[in-house]
Order: sequence, then C-alpha cells, then structure tokens
Amino acid sequence: MSWEGELTTVPLPDFPAGFRWGVSTSAYQIEGATGVDGRGPSIWDTFAREPGRIVDGSTGDEACDHRHRYAEDIALTAGLGVSAYRFSIAWPRVQPGGAGPANAAGLDFYDRLVDGLLAAGVDPVATLFHWDLPQPLEDAGGWLNRDTAARFAEYADLTAARLGDRVKLWITLNEPFIHMTLGYGIGTHAPGRMLLFDSFPVAHHQLLGHGLAVAALRARSTSEVAIANNYSPVRQVGDTDADRVAARAYDALHNRLFTDPLLGRGYPDAPGFDPAVVRDGDLDVIAAPIDVLGVNYYNPTGIRAPEEGSPLPFEMVPLDGYPRTAFDWPVAPDGLRELLGQLHDRYRDALPPIQVTESGCAYDDVPDADGRVHDPERIAYLDGHVRAVHEAIGAGVPVTGYFVWSLLDNWEWAEGFTKRFGLVHVDYPTQRRTPKSSYTWFRDLIRR
Ligand code: FCB
Repeated sequence: MSWEGELTTVPLPDFPAGFRWGVSTSAYQIEGATGVDGRGPSIWDTFAREPGRIVDGSTGDEACDHRHRYAEDIALTAGLGVSAYRFSIAWPRVQPGGAGPANAAGLDFYDRLVDGLLAAGVDPVATLFHWDLPQPLEDAGGWLNRDTAARFAEYADLTAARLGDRVKLWITLNEPFIHMTLGYGIGTHAPGRMLLFDSFPVAHHQLLGHGLAVAALRARSTSEVAIANNYSPVRQVGDTDADRVAARAYDALHNRLFTDPLLGRGYPDAPGFDPAVVRDGDLDVIAAPIDVLGVNYYNPTGIRAPEEGSPLPFEMVPLDGYPRTAFDWPVAPDGLRELLGQLHDRYRDALPPIQVTESGCAYDDVPDADGRVHDPERIAYLDGHVRAVHEAIGAGVPVTGYFVWSLLDNWEWAEGFTKRFGLVHVDYPTQRRTPKSSYTWFRDLIRR
C-alpha cells in the first residue's frame, strides 16, 4: 500500500548518495523482559515503582517485549528500507551489578540483534547509555560520583570486546543534558533527585565517562564513535537586557555545556558550572575526537527573564503560533534548520559531520475500524523536519544522517504508555504491531 498524501504537495528533495536514514529506540523503553538473562536492576526499575512517578503507574517490565520479539522488529526495520537502526544496550544486562566481568547471557541478546540487523542489510548503531544506570551504581552516588565515569569506560570496553567488530557506529551517551536536568536537577526522571544547579557534577562526570569510553571503544573497534546530544534553539521572549541575559544563560546550559568541552573549547560560562569538580587532564579526555555529532531535536524553547526571587536565572515560556503535538511540544521544523546552522557557525572546523539521531512526535494514534492507523500529523511533522535538514545541507552544514524517533510506540519514561512516537503502532495488551501510514510514507521517501 502506498501512502496517498493529503499534506505533502511539494515533492521532497533528493538527498546526497550515502545519506544514512534510520530509526531509533532505547532499551528500557522497548525491551521488557527485565528479569531474564541475569539482568540486574536499573534506576528506572526503582523509579517507576515509586508511587506517583509515572503518570499511568506503569513500568518498563514488559514495554514492547522487544527482548522476545526482536526478530519481528528487525523485519519491520528492514521493511522500511532504512540503512541503520539505532538501539541502546542495557548496561544492567551487561554488568548486572554495574561493575565486574561481562554477563555473557546479557551480551548474547545484543549479539543476536546485531547479527539479525546485518543479515537484514541494516547497520547496527548502538548507544551505550540511554539513562538506565545499574541501580548499584546509583546507590554509590550515580553520576554525582566520579567513579561512575570509570565504570562506564569499563562497560564500554566489555561491550566493544564482544560487538566491536559489527556495530557500525557507537554512541556513548544519550542526551546527557536531559539526564542531568530531569534526573538530578528537578527529579521528574530517574533517579529522581532535586539538586537544581548542584547537579553540575553529573554533567562533568558524564562527559568524562564519554571521553574515557571513546578511548576504550577506539582500543577495541575501528567503527565510528559519536555522542547524541539534545539541542533546542532558544527563542528569546521579551526584549529587555534581562531577557537577553536569561536567553544566553539557558542557551549555554542546554546547547553549549555538553558541546563546547567535547569540541575542545572547555566549559562555557553556564549556570551551575563548578570548576572544583574538573581535574587536571579531564578536558583533554573529554575532547577526544569523535567522528559524528548526534543531534536529537524536538522543539525550540521560549525563554525570558525570571521573576524576582526565582531559583532559576531564566523562565521558560510556551511559544505561541505553532501547531502542537500530544506532548504539547511546538511543531517547529524551522528550529531544526536554525539549530543546525547555529552548530555550524559556532564550531566551524571543529564540528564533525552531524547525524540527526532523534526526530519525531507523539500523537494519540488509534486504529480505525479496519485496523489501520492513519497519522497524517506525523507525516507532516517528518516532512517538515526532513526538508529542514535538506535546507541545512544546502547551506553547507555537514549533515549525513536522519533517524526517526521512534520505530515503535513505546514506554515514554514518566509518561508511561500515554505517548505514542512510533512509525509502528503497538497494541500493548496483545503486543500486536501495526505499521502506521507514516511508516509507508517514510519507506517511500527512502525508496526514492
Ligand atoms: C528523547 C529521548 C527518547 C524519547 C524522546 C521522546 O529526549 O532520548 O528516549 O524519550 O525524547
């Protein structure tokens, strides 16, 4: 069945040969089967069990049951014609206690997954940390503890020893900014701590872990290495000097704190930055060359000066004039174009090729009477964002890939099962997968 577009009237432009089209997922959001293969507990197992943390009271215990249904999910991925599949490896499957030798049974699963992808003609792109820290490491302080960086490098080494010959692109961390702010700053994600700007050590230790992991991966694997950062172009609301200062502060925190040091510039002057945790030599470790910068983009952020007495040096304000997703996030493809241009302008020669490692939207998709899932809003969303990438390439920004978040509807962290991001609809009680019309649209785009 071919998608007959009701929204896209202008044909999509051609992309350079070799452009990497992909889809993304993460372990805790899809795997389920948290009790098999000798997997240990993660901070999300703990957090999801605390009353009131997850809007629908669910956990990732079953999620999409991908651990058992991975062959079907590989077939769905291959059916799209994508050249790459980005998944994450659950650290608690590889090192159930967060340290010590590899748990072979845990790695066996990823071994089968990687081989299955390769047999289907899809490049495996593996993220090492997509927020599911082994609980014993959190008990020792989590990313507030400098030792977690060393543990992360050890885990990277064990994983690359097994999969390094076949994973085509390694991604060390997923969105360290989001993990720091939601997990340790305001506590809406695991591990649920509320330290506000005292969470800066989490930034530094994640970046240090990234740098140490890059070295470990290089020693075991000739594949490319990346990090996936979340970016959000700042839209200053208001025009006072205080608004300008606030917008600059938020931009430094969200868009520069995790990129300046990676690309050899050291830390920017960002709220909460604490030089005391940075030791001699750390910045060199963090600035180890990477092959690709992963960019996750969802929406821009409106910022103005804070009210007097606010604990934050900025205030976030909803942006008017955009359509909105089921998450109430503004749909702003121009923000992606802007952000790619901004990265290019900011970092110039220091900027490696960019791959958009997440881009997507949540809508309340429901099957119709015939069981089909029609999601024209998602098609419009992706159409706009793909065009934004094309424009950026035309303007000279080195973008070499685009991954849709996500292959499947899945367990969306604190939102539980209430937000559907997939190209494929999942009926959770039966685990039945139904490709949506956006799946067909994306497949047809790639075919062309
Ligand atoms: C990103 C996360 C991903 C998913 C999407 C919607 O911040 O990396 O796991 O939750 O948002």
